[in-house]
Amino acid sequence: MSPKESLSKNLTAHWMRQDRLCVWHPYTQMLTAPDAIGVQRAEGVYLYTCDGDRILDGISSWWVNIHGHSHPRLNRALQEQAGRFAQVIFAGFTHEPAARLAGELVQRTPDNLTRVFFSDNGSTAVEVALKMAYQYWRNRGELTRNLFVAFEHAYHGDTFGAMAVGGVEVFHSQFSDLFFEVRRAVGPHAPHSSQEAEAGSQPGRECAEDLEEILEREGQRVAAVIMEPMVQAAGGMIIWPVEFLRHVRDVTRRHGIPLIADEVFTGFGRTGKMFACEHGPVEPDILCVSKAITGGYLPLAATLASEEIYQTFLSEDRRKTLFHGHSYSGNALACAVALESLAVLEETQGLDRVMELEALFKERLEQLQSLPMVGEVRGIGALGVLELEPERQSGYLDERGPRMAQAFLERGVLLRPLGNVLYFLPPYVITDEEAHWVFDVIEDILKNS
Ligand SMILES: Cc1ncc(COP(=O)(O)O)c(C=O)c1O
Repeated sequence: MSPKESLSKNLTAHWMRQDRLCVWHPYTQMLTAPDAIGVQRAEGVYLYTCDGDRILDGISSWWVNIHGHSHPRLNRALQEQAGRFAQVIFAGFTHEPAARLAGELVQRTPDNLTRVFFSDNGSTAVEVALKMAYQYWRNRGELTRNLFVAFEHAYHGDTFGAMAVGGVEVFHSQFSDLFFEVRRAVGPHAPHSSQEAEAGSQPGRECAEDLEEILEREGQRVAAVIMEPMVQAAGGMIIWPVEFLRHVRDVTRRHGIPLIADEVFTGFGRTGKMFACEHGPVEPDILCVSKAITGGYLPLAATLASEEIYQTFLSEDRRKTLFHGHSYSGNALACAVALESLAVLEETQGLDRVMELEALFKERLEQLQSLPMVGEVRGIGALGVLELEPERQSGYLDERGPRMAQAFLERGVLLRPLGNVLYFLPPYVITDEEAHWVFDVIEDILKNS
């Protein structure tokens, strides 16, 4: 080994040791988790590790990446913007990337949405939406609307407001003493197992009620209803029928209550439409987007509001201002990359590719359906889901989740099951051959586990 090679090996060992000593990783039990895998570079659908392995990114690096890693056009957009400036205060100042991105978002989202408020991650997009809805009523002089309605199994992020409307017991119950009041409504669910479906019992159902009943009883107190249109992601990749989306919109409209659509997961083509609300189509009053907005490059989020909501914040009375903002609101690097990501998505017919992947996934999932441990398969767009029959501990804490994730890594695929829910969610640029190979690996591992 040359001196240079041995030096670079030591340097690698050094920063990995720093990671073990100093870093507290997200969603990780640091006592029992294996060491984090060092990534040296990433390109297309692959991550290249410090150990010389190549891993196919089967979950789009936590659902953000759509065009593949290290995309030449996104790299260029980032560099060009960095050459001008990276970040400036966004109160009292503005810049071309943010203004243009706001315009592009308004053009592509439902007609009633006219105003874009930038923040920097999915949770903050939801916090902004909740605050907008709450203050909308207060600005109108209705001071008693302090109740939100959300769905069982909902996941809207990890900040306090987002957690309060979340309905995933394992993530949220530790903090529930600190939450504001939320009523939980039932959604139509993919059954967690055939037995459960027959028994009519599903986890978390006991305390959830019908949306219409809640609004009839307490509608006068409700500030907004929040939902993940079409897919409840972190709650178990539950895919809702489009009729349910329409139903929620109809009921909320009848009661005059704003609907917040959280499209942090579904936005930018994942379900085969640019935004999942288009499946209805429905017009939400507030829409949250993040994750794939920058193609997986930089943290950025946007909360879009209807003109009606926006108008209630306009006043000579400064207390009616939306007093919310973040240091990096409207970050110029992120907005420049987001604009380029949108252009790439459209110029490469990304949504058509998602529909091709939907067909491929459907065919392969149907073949896997007959495996004994598979309870149900489902999919939409570039998302394929295999729900395993529950064992002793079902849901997110099902121990097969981390065991399977490890087995997939050993075969060169990054998949992170949500407990007994195994899902495949690659960047849209994955080839048919690569997708088939991942399904072959899944089949192999399920057959041998
Ligand atoms: C629907 C939905 N909303 C909000 C969030 C929170 O986003 P972030 O992790 O960027 O805070 C997520 C994250 O998975 C999500 O799936």
